[in-house]
Amino acid sequence: MLRKLERKNSVLNTERKAPNPSSIKASQFGRRSFIKRIGWGGTALLPAAGLLASRAVTRANASHGHAGLPRGDAALLRFLAAIEILETDLWQQYNELALGNEAFQTALAVLDGDMPSYVNQNTRDEFSHQDFLNAYLMSKGQRPVSLEAFRTLPSSQATGANKSAKRLTNLTNLTVDTSWYTRYRSTGNPDFGDSFPQIVNLVDLPGIPSTDLAVNSDAIQLIANTAGFHFATVEQGGSSLYDSFLPKANGPEVIKIIAAIGGTEIQHFEVWQDKAGNAPPVPLATGTLFPDLPHSPDQLPNGIDPADPIDTNQIMPRPCKFISPHLPLCSVIRPTSTQQAGAKATILFFTAMGLFQGQSNQFFDFVSALAEEADEAGRNFD
Ligand SMILES: [Fe+2]
Ligand SMILES: [Fe+2]
Repeated sequence: MLRKLERKNSVLNTERKAPNPSSIKASQFGRRSFIKRIGWGGTALLPAAGLLASRAVTRANASHGHAGLPRGDAALLRFLAAIEILETDLWQQYNELALGNEAFQTALAVLDGDMPSYVNQNTRDEFSHQDFLNAYLMSKGQRPVSLEAFRTLPSSQATGANKSAKRLTNLTNLTVDTSWYTRYRSTGNPDFGDSFPQIVNLVDLPGIPSTDLAVNSDAIQLIANTAGFHFATVEQGGSSLYDSFLPKANGPEVIKIIAAIGGTEIQHFEVWQDKAGNAPPVPLATGTLFPDLPHSPDQLPNGIDPADPIDTNQIMPRPCKFISPHLPLCSVIRPTSTQQAGAKATILFFTAMGLFQGQSNQFFDFVSALAEEADEAGRNFD
């Protein structure tokens, strides 16, 4: 047990111990600290004039042709459509390589033999989310959301990738916030101001190979491990986003849509949270350490669960503070506040992970305007 605890501490303390100066960035890019550091209104990514112009356009659009859909509900669904388009784009990139690149597929399979199929299923689901939300908007007289004007980023040139396709998202230089691992194993809740350490520092790393790499090499295993954690990071963000929108929706049908698609995001997160815990250690030979994760001791038939809260098999949400610290701890999705999990927080979160590196100011203007409208929505919005 002592050895086990020591090993766990070495994992949790990688931030303090790691000689790599880039590890400092991991803590800086924690979701809360990033938001606090730059603030929404102060972000240099968003020229004020462009943002205001985009908001005016969005508002003008919102005030026309939304028969049967309150303005707030339309704003929520338009933002979700944009997020689903972005999710679809990143999952499509992962899917091409998970199904068509031997080295990437083999490395993903170390986490679970079904990983390539799981990636394919998640990708299918995201396509269905973007298609459904846009079709629903159109059925209510709304224009669908399109990000096609921003599809400008290059593809991986590795076998399996659609090399000439243009992308919306960048998976080549990710800073993956892995604090969901410790957050969901804690009794704390970001909505109460609690913060959580990274379980592993993944800074400026690719989630996909840009070129062909050797099968079973450390380099491809580090990429697959990064991807495995990135899958969970993205999907827990989606889970929190949908839950943050739920209390803002007006119409029963829109509430049903947000609850039902949001439930699927939670299912995605749960699968990926389990698989990420299987990521194997990768030695320093590649220049970056991926540590051994804290595994539970073998279970014995002695009536005792020997697992520690931090262990990789603790995949169900540990009861935490919810609504009031005076109420009993409750196993829930967290965070769900607008500040921590809403639309603007989600754009900041995706930006901080490097997903939009190479995107234009016009892209940030467009998605930020959608985010602002969505965060303003509420039951008395319209
Ligand atoms: Fe989705
Ligand atoms: Fe998703």
